[in-house]
Amino acid sequence: MQNELNKPDHLVVVNSLEKRYTKGGAPVFSDISFSIDHGEIVCMIGHSGCGKSTILNILAGLESASSGQVSINGHTIRGPGLDRGVVFQGHALMPWLTVEQNVAMAIRARHPGMQRGDVKNMTEHYLGLVSLKEAMHKRPSELSGGMRQRVGIARAFSTTPELLLMDEPFGALDALTRGVIQDELLNICAQTHQTVFMITHDIDEAILLADRLLLMSSGPNAHIAEVVQNPLPKERSRAEIHHKKGYSDLRNHIMDFLVQKLNLKKPENN
Ligand SMILES: Nc1ncnc2c1ncn2[C@@H]1O[C@H](COP(=O)(O)OP(=O)(O)OP(=O)(O)O)[C@@H](O)[C@H]1O
Ligand SMILES: [Mg+2]
Repeated sequence: MQNELNKPDHLVVVNSLEKRYTKGGAPVFSDISFSIDHGEIVCMIGHSGCGKSTILNILAGLESASSGQVSINGHTIRGPGLDRGVVFQGHALMPWLTVEQNVAMAIRARHPGMQRGDVKNMTEHYLGLVSLKEAMHKRPSELSGGMRQRVGIARAFSTTPELLLMDEPFGALDALTRGVIQDELLNICAQTHQTVFMITHDIDEAILLADRLLLMSSGPNAHIAEVVQNPLPKERSRAEIHHKKGYSDLRNHIMDFLVQKLNLKKPENN
């Protein structure tokens, strides 16, 4: 269906994805279908090994599905593209480049004609957001794990992609930095209507950031067991969210799911 701007209603449509690593074996997951609207933040939560990173990598175009398709803006994806920015579970930086060069390279790829000075300013801006300006001349091997992860976050944000894909992006960060970057992500999303697909193990983070939560059952043959719409208003803030009506119910609901329903198998007739 097309809206008045002649754009597809959903930015992303994921249709019946299935992934098998071994022929004839059980799929890691099957029947994964969901959509992401323009400006929406969707978080996926689920047990380790259920296939979350694989799904994100398929959306990134870095891995192929055994069956099913992903389309972005109505076009089926066939590989990676500059319309998507990825923050990996591991940082995936170029080890021979400095922090500054790692970010600048992504900006230049996204904006080929950009003036050198503008690239530098933009690089410094995004490194500033993750408090890494001081470390901009260091190489990844000279950084802590959390610092490397922050470079990966700056690199992905700096390219202002249509779809930001983030695989447990804040897991390696201390609580303070994590909070600062969560706030920054919310700011960026509010200002730019950034569309995000993100994987997290942190329920509070999911409730703060996500407009919609996809709860995955355990693998093999994992599936989306439940889709939860965040009932809290979109203008969520870390300082106040736990006082909002509906917060505790939602948190308990997700916690119950993770504790009790983790081994829920796919219904036979679904
Ligand atoms: N290249 C591969 N070859 C074979 N099996 C793989 C490969 N990559 C992933 N798997 C398997 O697919 C399943 C899903 O892996 P994936 O990394 O997507 O899980 P995940 O949900 O992201 O887990 P975690 O929460 O621990 O990051 C796992 O059982 C894993 O062993
Ligand atoms: Mg993973």
